[in-house]
Amino acid sequence: MDIARIALNRHTCKAYDPSRKIPAAQIEQLKTLLRLSPSSINSQPWHFIIASSEAGKARVARAARQGAYASNGPKILNASHVIVFCARTTMDDAHLANLLVQEDADGRYPTPESKAAQSKGRSFYTGLHRYDLKDTQHWMEKQIYLALGTLLLGAAALEIDATPIEGFDQRILNEELGLREQGLTSVVIAALGYRSADDFNAKLPKSRFPMEKVIEEI
Ligand SMILES: Cc1cc2nc3c(=O)[nH]c(=O)nc-3n(C[C@H](O)[C@H](O)[C@H](O)COP(=O)(O)O)c2cc1C
Repeated sequence: MDIARIALNRHTCKAYDPSRKIPAAQIEQLKTLLRLSPSSINSQPWHFIIASSEAGKARVARAARQGAYASNGPKILNASHVIVFCARTTMDDAHLANLLVQEDADGRYPTPESKAAQSKGRSFYTGLHRYDLKDTQHWMEKQIYLALGTLLLGAAALEIDATPIEGFDQRILNEELGLREQGLTSVVIAALGYRSADDFNAKLPKSRFPMEKVIEEI
């Protein structure tokens, strides 16, 4: 597999063909990528909401109707699938306990000591962000972006077009999906599908700073 070629060929899709739908088996693969995405201390502070029905996509698109966000509305409506990446609003002790239970059930702890050590290490980092750095929300959202990056590369590998979307009203989407009540907040959206002839970005060359400007070897 030529992974660099996949990165070179992917682009942010600006217009979708509404008649084309992603096969269910590929959606399952993308869901697996999201679930398996790595996160600091395996915190998995996320929740992913996938809209594929017209009604579901219309609910998401309500957050992209006004001002600068309006150009994203048609992308959401015409995509095959739309994923809302949500972050938890707290990294509370109940969540940490749930993580430990899951890892135990998954066979991660051969001894009680190894489980206690993991719990202690995790408490250190969560305490650091909670009390010293005071950036727990920011920390959790960084993990969400890793999942977004994983999804974008995976979609490109499957020859599925995608659009990462930060241009939407988080307050409207949180309200529409009842996220606050669930201890969640929307962070970013990914539209997925297949480009239409109107996708001007598909025809433009990719633009990035040169390799030597962004990468230094020491
Ligand atoms: C986190 C994030 C948010 C973005 N938000 C939007 C958006 O709201 N609407 C849009 O059309 N493109 C959006 N983009 C696309 C970027 O403009 C695009 O990735 C960048 O210009 C590089 O182009 P390429 O993805 O085609 O290689 C976003 C990209 C990222 C990574």
